[in-house]
Amino acid sequence: MIYLDNHATTRVDPRVVETMLPFFSEAYGNAGSTGHTFGETASDAVERSREVIASGIGAVPQEIVFTSGATESNNLAIRGVAERSRRRGNHLVSVQTEHQAVLGPLARLAKRDYEVTLLDVEPHFSDMASDRAGWLDPQKVADALREETVLVSVMLANNEIGVIQPLAEIGAICRERGVLLHCDATQAVGKISVDVEQLHVDLMSFSAHKMYGPKGVGALYIRRRDPIVRLDSQIVGGGQESGRRSGTLNVPGIVGFARALELCLDEFPEEAKRQADLRDQLWAGLCQQLENLQLCGPALESSLRLPGNLNVTFGDVDGEALQMAMNDLAVSSGATCASTEAGPSHVLLALGLSVDQARSSLRFGLSRFNHVDEIERASGIVVQGVQKLRKIASHQADQA
Ligand SMILES: Cc1ncc(COP(=O)(O)O)c(C=O)c1O
Repeated sequence: MIYLDNHATTRVDPRVVETMLPFFSEAYGNAGSTGHTFGETASDAVERSREVIASGIGAVPQEIVFTSGATESNNLAIRGVAERSRRRGNHLVSVQTEHQAVLGPLARLAKRDYEVTLLDVEPHFSDMASDRAGWLDPQKVADALREETVLVSVMLANNEIGVIQPLAEIGAICRERGVLLHCDATQAVGKISVDVEQLHVDLMSFSAHKMYGPKGVGALYIRRRDPIVRLDSQIVGGGQESGRRSGTLNVPGIVGFARALELCLDEFPEEAKRQADLRDQLWAGLCQQLENLQLCGPALESSLRLPGNLNVTFGDVDGEALQMAMNDLAVSSGATCASTEAGPSHVLLALGLSVDQARSSLRFGLSRFNHVDEIERASGIVVQGVQKLRKIASHQADQA
């Protein structure tokens, strides 16, 4: 079985597992119980991890709040800021191609007395390799801001087409206009260089399981200086995380999260280059043997795309049927890019693809565990699957 669905989740690196293990069996104290050694050991481990994670994104430890993952971080950022700032304004700006973990909280707010503007992105051109498909023009953000805008939320890297958005430019615009900027950087942290100062972001969500860490742990960066960001907590209880997110801390998860980020940073940028080469090899292999393919998202050679991302439409072939025809290959289909999303991918539709085109797409996500021989085999499996389905379709057309 070849696993190329690393935008959905990644294998936990064995070095991360090793770091986590003692926190299940020996140092299992509650980080909030600082009256004894068990608790203090756990609390020390959490604070060391907080330092590692903060410095990995150019922040300070007090700016990191641990959560259960990027979905929770996005909810805390968006709903938390909107609720706290309600007296100042009720308008939020985001993008059509965001993850449901951003669109969902925005939709909830829109049902109350908030207004949400969702910006569109550069379209896909079927007859040429467009450099910028899926890219958000910062000018659109500038034009959308109003007196009553309290938050802009733009992802750094897209989970389907890998497009990297111009956050630094968007951040500069927001700062000049006095509007807070939240960034869902779940697919970017650990894969490309991310620094909250350079990007001018005020809040940033990310998650351990996209970077070879465990599932169920993430973080929200909350700026505490120039400007200080204030938000309403969404989970209340014991007052952990300075009251910003109550709940017993997931100590093994947090320790694994820090180790995972540390490893990604150690291996960057060589690993990014290696994955980009493998990704290009996969695309070249498919193009050599199949006709009627289209790349979705920015050109592979552009710097606007995540190194390990490839998204392809296979013309007349149904992506879900293709996925089923490829027993030995784990990829994701554009027909159902998120497990909760019933219809064709909203991201591909936002690029201007037709429903049929969106349904005929596959997303490939590479990882540090993929190697050249696997990519060769994967390309063979896809080619065989597409040829088989095309043959069946042409046979059915002959008979009709
Ligand atoms: C861009 C993006 N944001 C948010 C999430 C949700 O992350 P989590 O699984 O940590 O809640 C994902 C995961 O698919 C994602 O790709």
